[in-house]
Amino acid sequence: MRTTVSVIKADVGSVAGHHRPHAKMLEYARKKLTEAEESGLIKSFYVYHVGDDIGLVMTHDKGENNSEIHGLAWETFKEITEKVSKPLKLYGAGQDLLSDAFSGNVRGMGPGVAELEFEERKSDPIIVFAADKTEPGAWNLPLYRMFADPFNTAGLVIDPTLHDGFIFEIMDLVEGKTVKLKAPEESYDILGLLGTPGRYAVSRIYRAKDMEPAAAASTDRLSLIAGRYVGKDDPVLIVRCQSGFPAVGEVLAPFAVPHLVAGWMRGSHNGPLMPVSFRKASVVSFFDGPPRVIAMGWQIADGRLVGVDGVEPADLFDDPAWDYSRDLAMKIAVYMRTMGEIMPARLEPAEMEYTTLPKILDKLKERFQAVQK
Ligand code: F6R
Ligand code: MG
Ligand code: MG
Repeated sequence: MRTTVSVIKADVGSVAGHHRPHAKMLEYARKKLTEAEESGLIKSFYVYHVGDDIGLVMTHDKGENNSEIHGLAWETFKEITEKVSKPLKLYGAGQDLLSDAFSGNVRGMGPGVAELEFEERKSDPIIVFAADKTEPGAWNLPLYRMFADPFNTAGLVIDPTLHDGFIFEIMDLVEGKTVKLKAPEESYDILGLLGTPGRYAVSRIYRAKDMEPAAAASTDRLSLIAGRYVGKDDPVLIVRCQSGFPAVGEVLAPFAVPHLVAGWMRGSHNGPLMPVSFRKASVVSFFDGPPRVIAMGWQIADGRLVGVDGVEPADLFDDPAWDYSRDLAMKIAVYMRTMGEIMPARLEPAEMEYTTLPKILDKLKERFQAVQK
């Protein structure tokens, strides 16, 4: 039986600046998706938020890039904007909806999308990660560790079903091209690309021995779509786990030491990616951050999400083990802030092209004088 998990997310407004959505927005999304579930379009769903982003996790049998599923998400975000965000004058109402002309697919229109279609196994655990205040390349480091680093994933060494390695599909976000590279044989080439997360981001991962899909990430960069800064992309990631894929514990382990990602305040700073519980702490508050990630765990059974109570997912970073990482993230965050607007705390010029930097350079053009030899 083939099942598709679609995660479609957008920031369509929030309370108290760019912090978190209003409860009525989440309620509206649940109402819309309940109707879609009752009509048989989707089989199950879960609505979450991380920081100011709302995410719709939907399971169905329509495959990836299905216009009805994308249409449902688009309509949901549009209606939330018109019926909740705008009347309440929420901040950034409709921010991520960059076009009015929906033509069957939300890709390239603002919302972020990750979708994975697969043949259901006897038992199929998945994790959906969602981040706020960062970009798709933020997954590069953890995905490499999960699927290519034997110091993280013991199964690569120990489990014969993982031993052949994984294929990384990497997207050039500027050129809109992808390349498939195999780990471990091409690890150094993979790392060569993943080291530039603003340009190259992992879009999918397959198990090498049978090309079974293992992971899918959203790769939409809002600034490249809009041609200006409109908010950070805030990516999502779906990972299949266990029995021939990395174990849940191996998939979560890379987040123990918060790595620096681009985004944070005004999408213009490097900051640590802090793993948080979505029930307790997915509100961004320190310098609009620090950037954060939540991890939602489910089983997929007969095309439906099975969580710890109905569709309510396991809150995988809600464990005292992650207090250490959160503490470390805050230490790194405060340290990075001591550098103010000096690189590498601030992003490099190429990443700042849609902000004031070109205008400053333009204004000062006439005042630059040649150095006397
Ligand atoms: C980052 C983000 C915020 C805003 C910042 C300024 O993705 O959403 O950090 O960039 O709060 O927002 P404006 O320009 O709306 O006042
Ligand atoms: Mg926002
Ligand atoms: Mg956001």
